[in-house]
Amino acid sequence: MQSVYMDNNATTAMAPEVKAALKEADRIFGNASSMHRYGREAAALVSHAREDLAALVGCRPSEVLFTSGATESNNTVFDIARHLITQGKGSRIVTTTIEHPAIIETARYLQSEGIHVDFCPVDSEGRVKIDELEKLVGDDVALVSVMMGNNESGAVQDTSSAVRIAHAHNALFHTDVTQAVGKLPIDFEKEGFDYMSLSGHKFHGPKGVGALIARKGAPLMPFLHGGHQENGLRPGTYNTQAIYGMGIAAKLAKKDLETEAARLWSLREMLRKGIEESIDDVVINGSQEHCLPGTLNVSFPRAEGESILLMLDMAGVAVSTGSACATGSLEPSYVLMATGMDVELAHGSIRFSLGRYNTQEDVRYVLRVLPPIIKKLREMSTR
Ligand SMILES: Cc1ncc(COP(=O)(O)O)c(C=O)c1O
Repeated sequence: MQSVYMDNNATTAMAPEVKAALKEADRIFGNASSMHRYGREAAALVSHAREDLAALVGCRPSEVLFTSGATESNNTVFDIARHLITQGKGSRIVTTTIEHPAIIETARYLQSEGIHVDFCPVDSEGRVKIDELEKLVGDDVALVSVMMGNNESGAVQDTSSAVRIAHAHNALFHTDVTQAVGKLPIDFEKEGFDYMSLSGHKFHGPKGVGALIARKGAPLMPFLHGGHQENGLRPGTYNTQAIYGMGIAAKLAKKDLETEAARLWSLREMLRKGIEESIDDVVINGSQEHCLPGTLNVSFPRAEGESILLMLDMAGVAVSTGSACATGSLEPSYVLMATGMDVELAHGSIRFSLGRYNTQEDVRYVLRVLPPIIKKLREMSTR
């Protein structure tokens, strides 16, 4: 049986180049903070990675703070906002209804602690309503946070307008670029962002490593307390190899950014057209014009997303549903529901997310096995 992985928005396979780099770095076991040769060798790996990551996202190397991933980076930015609000620097946070749980849940936690958070709605394509954002952001806002590319629908947000709105009111601006790295060009400095979060494993780097990019001069406070690493802001012995691996992944992503984005889009389009031609009554979710190149979210009315996922899995194809079934709840995806989608359609949604190692042959295989699965499920459906 063929095996096809189309769940790259969940995580990606490490690039062979990254694996080779990890092997190469294996002999460098020193503590990057030590002054001797072993330490200097390890520090050089961290320094290379800082430069490679900065080059990919358009910031200065000194603006990179290594973290355990985007969850930590997102939490940190919201904690900074909380700190500013308790100091009387603003009284509200504005974010959106379609952020990743690493933001939505953090915002809800802050709400439970008495911090005022507003959630900006999205349109039927899953794009943040910029006119609503304009109405929501005032001079009392400490932080505006709008993600760049949505992990479920693939909708790419107008972060250039969002940062302009935030700054017009002297609010700080954060964007979660976790799904956009390696797929869209990102220019932190040119866009004038204050903070940006990302994770290595979403662009073929190692898991458990990421970064918070913080503009020089943007408010920061220690994430943890302890050592002097990352200027005392994020202490703890460096995970040298993972950081180095993420740097190599960043280098690779930068080198192939344009060609890879075009290749992913053409595979995505091949899949979309193939699905529309071979299965009737399908709904393509999200924006077709403003979409992450490798993401295709489709609803199959009269077929349950979880059943499609399980049958595709039996056929060797890995995809994901929008529902939170992984967490034990069968609630439909809040991201799709935020677009005003009907509950049944949201329940029948499947996310195909393509990555560096997907091929046309993978798409052809999915187009071979998917139509009979949908047909079978629809025949069994009582709806
Ligand atoms: C948009 C977005 N933000 C944040 C995260 C969290 O990343 P991590 O689990 O690596 O911390 C994810 C992971 O799915 C994501 O897609």
